[in-house]
Order: sequence, then C-alpha cells, then structure tokens
Amino acid sequence: MSADRKPIIAANWKMHHDHLVAIQVVQKLSYALEPSDYDTCDIVICPPFTGIRSIQNLLEGDKIPLLLGAQSCHWEDEGAFTGEVAPPMLARMNVSYVIAGHSERRQLFGETDEIVNKKARAILKHGMNPIVCVGETLEEREAGATDERVATQTRAAFASIKSPEAERCVVAYEPIWAIGTGRNATPDDANTTIGVIRNVLRELYREVADAMRIQYGGSVKPGNIADLMAMPEIDGALVGGASLDPGDFSQIIRFRT
Ligand code: PGA
Repeated sequence: MSADRKPIIAANWKMHHDHLVAIQVVQKLSYALEPSDYDTCDIVICPPFTGIRSIQNLLEGDKIPLLLGAQSCHWEDEGAFTGEVAPPMLARMNVSYVIAGHSERRQLFGETDEIVNKKARAILKHGMNPIVCVGETLEEREAGATDERVATQTRAAFASIKSPEAERCVVAYEPIWAIGTGRNATPDDANTTIGVIRNVLRELYREVADAMRIQYGGSVKPGNIADLMAMPEIDGALVGGASLDPGDFSQIIRFRT
C-alpha cells in the first residue's frame, strides 16, 4: 500500500447470491462498516447482473457509500447479442466499476486479449472504470514466464487507451493457480509481479502510472490481507470466495484493525 494511492477492495461474487440474498448481504456489510472505512478505502461490490438494480436501490435509498460494480459486459452499445449486457445499461444503474478479462472469462468463455481491450475501452467510453485482470497459469509460473505473460496481457488490454482514461483503470493481478484454491501468492511474489505490471504501465503512461491502482486477487482472506496490503505495490484486493460472507469481507476491508 502506498500513501499516494487510495486502496480499492472489490468483491467479485461470481455466480453466487440471488438478488434477495444480495440485498441481505449488502445490508449486513453496511452494518459492519464504519463511516471511516469508506474514507480510507474504495469498496466495490460486483454481484451477478440480476442483483445490480436491487443493490443500486439499497445503496441510494439508505445512502450507503459502497460502489457498485459488474463482473463483465459486452463491448457494443446495443445489438443482436443474445445473453449479453451492454455498457450503457450498466452505466444507467450507476455502476462505477466493471471487471474485464477475469481469468474465468478468459479460460471458460474464450475471452482473448483483444476482447478484453474492447471491453475496457467500452467501459471507459461510458464513464465507468475497468478492473482489468491479468495473471499467469501454474505452468507459465513454473516455466519462469510470469513476467512476460502479465506484461503481454497488460499491453494488450491497454492498447489505444490514452493517459487520462488509463488513470481511471484498475489492474487486478490474479495468478490463476491462486484463484479459489486456498493457495495465495506470497506477499513478496505478488508485490514483485505487480511491480512488473507497474513498470509496463510506466512505459505506456509515464505521467499517470504511479497513480494507477493495482490489486492482488487469489484466495484473499481475513488472515492474509494485512500482509498483502503491507506491500508497497499492492493497492487493494479483488476478493472472490471470502467476499460472499459479509463478516469475512468486512474484516478484509478493515484489515488495519
Ligand atoms: P478467490 O477469487 O478470492 O475466491 O480466490 C478471486 C477472484 O477470482 O477474483
């Protein structure tokens, strides 16, 4: 964590919590948090699409300063794309962050670097902020290809995005072998690879790279968040499993106490 960048901790609920459960979880989370938690950290909830409108109503009705996110979107504004959700539809529900290129989307749904770039640009175009995910497989790590892999993914995701817009982007470094496995990268390893990503951003965006936030994701839990956040390059976390429970997630957000 660096004093110059506000930490951002995001919940990626994946395909969990219907809209009724989502309301309860967000209510419980809001009871567990203090006003100062929102000042020290941007807190984002990315529910499945079906929960977004319900959570929007709750946050606006009860004036809860949690930020709303989505897990994906299409890159076109509208069209014959059965089953897809368009960026302007999300923007209309006051979604502020959208995940682009999560490894599950890349591995299970064929998202390429080019698609991730199209999505990131579409998210920016509609005034929202992409959370661009990058990360290596276990084979890539064991072959010593981690740095090259994340650098390639980062360059591709940011193709033709200019500095002022890049500054609004968040990058999530998520080693694939650490997602949902209970096996997290050591804080030192995560810090080193995030440093590689930041150097790529410095090449691309000399003026703003040091203001851009890079999260770690992969088996983040109440028990390991403090050590991760103690690292100078790690600006927050993208949390899957442990974000489903409001008690666990609030402990992650309140990692300082
Ligand atoms: P996990 O998922 O925290 O359950 O490992 C992280 C992610 O996929 O974003």
